[in-house]
Amino acid sequence: MLFFFIPVPLLLLMGGAGSSSTSSSSSSWASSTSSTRVSSTSSTKTTSGSAQASSTGPVPTASGNPYSGKSVWNSEYYASEVYAAAAMVTDTALKAKISKVASIPTFTWFDTMAKVADLPGYLRAAGSSILQIVVYDLPNRDCHANASNGELLYANNGAALYQQYIDGITAAIKASSGSTVVAVIEPDSLANLVTNLSDSRCSSVQDQYKASVVYALKTLATAGVYMYIDAGHAGWLGWPANISPAATMFTQIFKSAGSSPFIRGLATNVANYNALTAASPDPVTQGNNNYDETHYINALGPMLASSGWNAQFIVDQGRSGKQNIRSAWGNWCNIKNAGFGLRPTTSTGNSYIDAIVWIKPGGECDGTSNTSAVRYDSMCGGPDAKVPAPEAGQWFQAYFVDLVTNANPAF
Ligand SMILES: *[C@@H]1O[C@H](CO)[C@@H](O)[C@H](O)[C@H]1NC(C)=O
Ligand SMILES: *[C@@H]1O[C@H](CO)[C@@H](O)[C@H](O)[C@H]1NC(C)=O
Ligand SMILES: *[C@@H]1O[C@H](CO)[C@@H](O)[C@H](O)[C@H]1NC(C)=O
Repeated sequence: MLFFFIPVPLLLLMGGAGSSSTSSSSSSWASSTSSTRVSSTSSTKTTSGSAQASSTGPVPTASGNPYSGKSVWNSEYYASEVYAAAAMVTDTALKAKISKVASIPTFTWFDTMAKVADLPGYLRAAGSSILQIVVYDLPNRDCHANASNGELLYANNGAALYQQYIDGITAAIKASSGSTVVAVIEPDSLANLVTNLSDSRCSSVQDQYKASVVYALKTLATAGVYMYIDAGHAGWLGWPANISPAATMFTQIFKSAGSSPFIRGLATNVANYNALTAASPDPVTQGNNNYDETHYINALGPMLASSGWNAQFIVDQGRSGKQNIRSAWGNWCNIKNAGFGLRPTTSTGNSYIDAIVWIKPGGECDGTSNTSAVRYDSMCGGPDAKVPAPEAGQWFQAYFVDLVTNANPAF
C-alpha cells in the first residue's frame, strides 16, 4: 500500500561523519547532547577486530523519548532527490521553496535486503545525530494491495531471509559507534491483520507476519534501536470496531517480543494524509469520532496502557498539510492536492507523542497508474489519485511540485 523504492546507487559515503552530517532541519530539534548508549554489562568478547557485531556486546539502555535533546540526521539521499527536482524547475520562487524541503529530515526506507549494505555509510554520516529508518521488507508484504508488494515470500524461504535482513541491520548498528537509530517497523503489516483477514493473501500469513515482526523487535532491541510499530491511522484502526482489537494485538506483540523499553510505541499516519489536529472533521470521517491523529492516539494510548503497554507515538505529517481532499477516507494513493505538512518537531503538545516526523519521502510515488502494470492497484487510478503516476518509489515530479505549492505551513 505504501511504495517501493527502486534500487538506486547510493551517493552517500561522501567522507567522514563530521562534514557530511548536515543534521537538523529546524530550531525545534535541539542539538545533540550525549550518547544514549550505556553499557550495563561488560561481556567483552574479544574474538576479532571484525566490524560485525557480536551478540554479546554491551547491552544498551533505553532512555525515554529518543528524540529529546538530539539532532536528527537529514538524509542525503532524499536531499539529492529534492535538489534534482529543483533543477527541473525554472520558476525561481518555486525553486527557492523546493530547496527548503531538502533540509527537512525524512526517514530512509530499507525496503530490500540489498539496501542493508548502505546502512554503515548512513550510520557514519549521521554520526551522533538520530538516523531514522523504516524496516520494510516483510515477506508477502502489502498483503491487501498491489502497489508495494515486496521481494520476499514465505513460500520461498522468506522467513529465513527476513531474519537475515534483520540480522544485517542489527549487526551494522552494533558495529557503529554510538548511533541513535529510530525505526518504524513494517508499515501496514499488522494493521492488515486487524481489518483484512477476509483477504486470503493476509489471513494465510497472519501467524508468520507476527512471528517475523516479533523477531525484528527482539533482535533490533539488542542493538538499542528505538522502535515504533506501524499502527495505520485514524481512518483505518481508529474506527470503533477496530481500535480495541488493534490495542490488544499491539500489546500482545510488544509482550511476545520481550517488552523491551526500546519498543517505544507506535507510528501513525505513515504515508497518509490525516491532520494531527483537524480544524473540523472532514465529512468523509463521518461515523468515526477519531477523525484526526490526535483523537486516534488519545483513544489508543490509554487502551494500550490498560492492557500493559505504556506506548508512545510518532506521527507522520509529511503529506498532511491540506485537508478535505479525499472523496473517501480509505483512498491512499498519490492523493491530488496534498501538501507538505507540519514540520518535524518534539514540541507536540501531547504527552503521548514523542515527535512529529516526516516518514514518507514526499515526491516518491505511491504506485503506478498504468493499468497494464503488474503492480497496478485500482487505488492509484481512482478519482482522488493524481495521474499519470510512475511505479511506486520512483520520483513523481508533478506530485512533488504540488506538495510544495500546497504546503501548510507554507514555505
Ligand atoms: C482492508 O482494510 C482497508 C483499510 O481499512 C479497508 O478499507 C478494507 O475494506 C479492508 N478490506 C477487507 C476485505 O476487509
Ligand atoms: C504500461 O505498462 C505496460 C506493461 O508493463 C507497458 O508495456 C507500457 O509501456 C506502460 N505504459 C506506459 C504509458 O508507461
Ligand atoms: C490486485 O491485482 C489483482 C491481480 O491482478 C487484481 O485482481 C486486483 O483487483 C488488484 N487489486 C486492486 C486493489 O487493484
